[in-house]
Amino acid sequence: MTVIAVEQEELMLRDLRDENGRRLLNARQIAALEEAGYRTAEDILEMATKRELSLILTPKTAEKLWNTIADMLKPRTFRSAAEIQKLRRARIERLTTGSRKLDELIGGGIETGAITEMAGSYGAGKTEMAHQLSVNVQLPRERGGLEGSCLYFDTEKTFRPERIAEMASAVGLDPKEAMNRIIVAECYTSDHQIFLLNNSHGIIRENNIRLIVVDSLMAHFRSEYIGRELLAERQQKLNQYMARLARMARKFNLAVFVTNQAVSSPDLFGSIQPTGGNVVAHSSVTRLWIRRPKAMSPLRIVRLTESPWLPCGEAVFKITSRGVQDREDDEDA
Ligand SMILES: Nc1ncnc2c1ncn2[C@@H]1O[C@H](COP(=O)(O)OP(=O)(O)O)[C@@H](O)[C@H]1O
Ligand SMILES: [Mg+2]
Repeated sequence: MTVIAVEQEELMLRDLRDENGRRLLNARQIAALEEAGYRTAEDILEMATKRELSLILTPKTAEKLWNTIADMLKPRTFRSAAEIQKLRRARIERLTTGSRKLDELIGGGIETGAITEMAGSYGAGKTEMAHQLSVNVQLPRERGGLEGSCLYFDTEKTFRPERIAEMASAVGLDPKEAMNRIIVAECYTSDHQIFLLNNSHGIIRENNIRLIVVDSLMAHFRSEYIGRELLAERQQKLNQYMARLARMARKFNLAVFVTNQAVSSPDLFGSIQPTGGNVVAHSSVTRLWIRRPKAMSPLRIVRLTESPWLPCGEAVFKITSRGVQDREDDEDA
């Protein structure tokens, strides 16, 4: 088993000095930053904006802190394309969906370090896929897992431990253990959804979280921000939320899987579109569309609609009591 170092040598906040060699932050400021999830200089550069920092520190200290760190870490920022390719190869891992066909379509599985979105209408199988991934992430690497745990944000109260137990048994994991390795956070409102993500750094570090699920991304945003006049505010909040998800995916090298409802869009002549508009479209590196070819069928068709480097295409698989499987897999195998 190869262990990939997620972080290089880290620069702790207490070791930061100003130009006169004095400590940049006092104990109280460090405690406040740690409380917000920032432990190292890299954490701040990779996850915080100056504005976010100024809500924790005074605006002046926030500005100085950010500038000092950005300057110090500058040499690590400029890299050749060859270096980037090497880093990507060493870092990016893939998580199996349970279907070989679907994995192939998306380049080997759901990739770490980025957001993958699955959109579709009600009952298409988005929550099923979310459950399956939260089980599969626990599998050994040679079976397509990441040997890690899952952090599952449930916004629609559709998380089912019984379904996890069923899927875990089907892949040969102990159901109890598998359930212990999925940390579920129920989100009551969009504000709560944002709050919980912002406060999850500690949980991610302590539990070897390699997958974050958000099922579903937009349910609260859609029901709370109704009408044209609230759209700009909604998109701004959503943008910050997606940006944070993307930063966390990179920082902790974990896979992020978000589900999205498809609705008919009045702007696009009633065609069925994922919600969230450009913000969601641009933050999701890989976009998938799931549908049922006919009612009551176990079969599902997933279309790859957006990928930075793969051609679009489709894959067929099935959802049975055992979970996500290839069409030809035996039900009782
Ligand atoms: N235990 C099961 N065995 C077989 N199929 C199941 C099982 N549980 C759910 N499904 C299938 O998944 C569908 C619901 O999919 P779901 O992921 O909840 O949809 P959504 O896209 O709305 O999240 C059901 O209609 C059923 O076809
Ligand atoms: Mg669902």
